[in-house]
Amino acid sequence: MTNRRAVVWGASGGVGRAFVEALVASGEFGTIYAGSRSPGDEAEGTVRPFAFDLLDEASIAAGARSIAAGGPIDLTVIATGMLHDGQMVRPEKSFAALTADAMVAAYRINAVGPALIAKHMIDALPRARRSVVAALSARVGSIGDNRLGGWHSYRASKAAMNMVLANLAIELRRTRPHAIAIGLHPGTVDTRLSAPFRRNLSSGQLASPAESVRRLMAVIARLDESSSGKVLSWDGSEILP
Ligand SMILES: NC(=O)c1ccc[n+]([C@@H]2O[C@H](COP(=O)([O-])OP(=O)(O)OC[C@H]3O[C@@H](n4cnc5c(N)ncnc54)[C@H](OP(=O)(O)O)[C@@H]3O)[C@@H](O)[C@H]2O)c1
Repeated sequence: MTNRRAVVWGASGGVGRAFVEALVASGEFGTIYAGSRSPGDEAEGTVRPFAFDLLDEASIAAGARSIAAGGPIDLTVIATGMLHDGQMVRPEKSFAALTADAMVAAYRINAVGPALIAKHMIDALPRARRSVVAALSARVGSIGDNRLGGWHSYRASKAAMNMVLANLAIELRRTRPHAIAIGLHPGTVDTRLSAPFRRNLSSGQLASPAESVRRLMAVIARLDESSSGKVLSWDGSEILP
């Protein structure tokens, strides 16, 4: 049995759940920690559920501590994120629709949350062997790629998260030289998050969570230290800031 360990933060989401399933199926990890706001109590096979809320740093710290107690973590996947919350936050089509509260809420989930997870996971990363911290980003977080505008809060919060990852990569280089921090764009994936926004997609543009994660796992497998701090798409191509 392998003693490699992985953790998925956001295991209740479409992409996060598919990551847990793919990690189990790979047989490469002896323990897979699956974090969400409302986890089940029971460990199942190699999967160990734990609770956290991105809006509660103490819960993130407690989650990271319980994970680290089992030994170093080889793969950290941050699969949380928010485009709309069904109430206050929805992707803005114009500046007239922008509100401070919705923008801050998007930042709390998409930028601050992953930064806090990174803060509390650093001590759990192995010093002497390769490890990966992969956070789900989005192509729309690229300033250089932005031709359509709109979705102000989501775009800006993902751009901020990408900066957090670039900074994490620099800090890790000093203390954990074999650790790789990476942003991943999963494509347009059939999940709760994308459900209201698929009308104009042509066929073949919507991936299942399993298919997206299969491709992202292949990208993760090929990463080396030179990729750290970058954002890559599901096909392995770099998305420039
Ligand atoms: N789907 C796409 O087409 C697409 C495209 C580009 C990028 N992405 C990115 O991919 C990532 C995964 O998205 P998805 O499509 O899988 O969306 P999803 O199904 O809506 O999953 C979002 C996840 O974030 C979690 N989350 C939200 N707020 C939280 C909080 N306060 N504390 C803890 N967890 C919280 C959700 O937990 P609950 O289950 O408790 O709500 C859920 O696990 C996101 O970062 C998204 O921006 C997705």
